[in-house]
Amino acid sequence: MIVHVALSPETGAEYVAEAITRQLQQKPNSILGLATGRTMEPVYERLRYNYRTGRCSWRKARTFNLDEYVLTGSGQHTSIFQFMQDQLIRHIDLPSEQFHIPNAHAESPRKEAEAYEALLDQHEPIDLQILGIGTNGHIAFNEPGSAKDSRTRIVRLAEETLTQNFGATASRAPRHAITMGLGSIVRARKIILLATGVSKQNAITSLLQHSTFTPTSPASALVHHPNVELILDPAAAAGIARHEHRQPGSASTI
Ligand code: GLP
Repeated sequence: MIVHVALSPETGAEYVAEAITRQLQQKPNSILGLATGRTMEPVYERLRYNYRTGRCSWRKARTFNLDEYVLTGSGQHTSIFQFMQDQLIRHIDLPSEQFHIPNAHAESPRKEAEAYEALLDQHEPIDLQILGIGTNGHIAFNEPGSAKDSRTRIVRLAEETLTQNFGATASRAPRHAITMGLGSIVRARKIILLATGVSKQNAITSLLQHSTFTPTSPASALVHHPNVELILDPAAAAGIARHEHRQPGSASTI
């Protein structure tokens, strides 16, 4: 695992957007794994700009989002589908049938999860998977306790996740989500995880303390992967120096 400490959250986002842009330039029909969360908003802002200025086309690409809330029978919440439309999809030339995300309103979320995993199987491997991280160390919605070989499935969201994602409205938030599993995620050829801000410090410190998969830190599923870059800003990286860093690889500044 290679750790890069960016000078600022903006520099970190720029690095991730450039990696995606280069991937599309080098392989226009790339399969990309996309993430959501506030951390990703500046990444999508730069990707919109890179598209507008003609630096890349998404016409031949295919994208898979990591997760979606289960909103069956409920209309009041914003889906991750909507986030993606607003942040990226309606601004670029990606054909709608090449944008994949579990259906938040599926009649049977269980069948929807199985169908999503089957679709991933059909198109794997993902060339470049982008990840954020939860304050409790989750990746996608694989909460602590998730199995290393887990596949796309329905999960119950941790209280910490509901508070992190919904703040004051957490009590009215969806309790379940469909998420790609840890085992689904690590099949990607290359993974870039972006973490910014002081709230991610503990999750990052914990991830880097593990030299093997530890279920209390779901992101530690990445330690066995041969091609992972961790992009941090100084606040998210602040806890690292205080702990022994047992990951193979190097730390550098971007
Ligand atoms: C959600 C997503 C994760 C994401 C996390 C971080 O929980 N399921 O994939 O990493 O949010 O969110 P934020 O970037 O807003 O801190």
